[in-house]
Amino acid sequence: MTEYKTETMIEMIKVSKTYHPNVRALTDVSVSIGKGEMVFLTGVSGAGKTTLLKLLCKMESATKGLVEVDGYDIRKLRGKNLAKMRQAIGVAYQDFKLLTDHTVAENIAIAMEVSYRKQHIIRKRVRTLLEELDLTDKHNTVAGELSRGEQQRVTLARAVANSPVLLLVDEPTGNLDSNSTVRVMNLLTNLNQSGATVVIATHDHTIYRDGNKRLLELRNGQMHQVRNGVS
Ligand SMILES: Nc1ncnc2c1ncn2[C@@H]1O[C@H](COP(=O)(O)OP(=O)(O)O)[C@@H](O)[C@H]1O
Ligand SMILES: [Mg+2]
Repeated sequence: MTEYKTETMIEMIKVSKTYHPNVRALTDVSVSIGKGEMVFLTGVSGAGKTTLLKLLCKMESATKGLVEVDGYDIRKLRGKNLAKMRQAIGVAYQDFKLLTDHTVAENIAIAMEVSYRKQHIIRKRVRTLLEELDLTDKHNTVAGELSRGEQQRVTLARAVANSPVLLLVDEPTGNLDSNSTVRVMNLLTNLNQSGATVVIATHDHTIYRDGNKRLLELRNGQMHQVRNGVS
């Protein structure tokens, strides 16, 4: 991913997604998200939030329309370019996808080893992230033994470990108390302030209500802009 190819990180033009056999998850969604933006994507359960994030990281493909990330048509990305894009995008999945038989530290480190970072850098980064998310004492705990709120934070730590230029987070606070929610939002805000584009799918209004970031809402698979962002 070349860093200054476009000013736009995400461009979706008339994107529709229909799941087999006939579930219309997204209908003619067009949205443009600039580099360095932080955007909240809201909508009731089933509105299409997760589907939209999955299209952006190529976990699902659009039935119709154009999806571009950093100027690249995501459908056409293959081989080396696809691998590069995957390294540049961090994803915190709604269903976590942790390696449940590995420790917390290993789950985060594995994500970093893909980028060939040195072991001492990985160890330091893991410790820093665990501290920021109040998980220091879980360093050696097997991920499958954690509470859902803890797993959610490990998922986020893994997604941000490589300092991605694009971060996609799906319901990052669903299982968290208010103290952990603040920590998670601080981490996301800091990453955004250091230049990353951050897209947060959420139905937790407490995390966007009082802010000034752009707010998008999916209703019946269609996109509506509820609030303009001030950056
Ligand atoms: N793999 C799938 N197969 C069939 N239908 C799906 C699949 N994933 C999601 N859906 C459906 O697509 C719609 C949008 O789902 P989703 O994107 O998960 O919404 P949200 O994240 O806003 O809750 C829902 O009706 C859901 O049931
Ligand atoms: Mg979802």
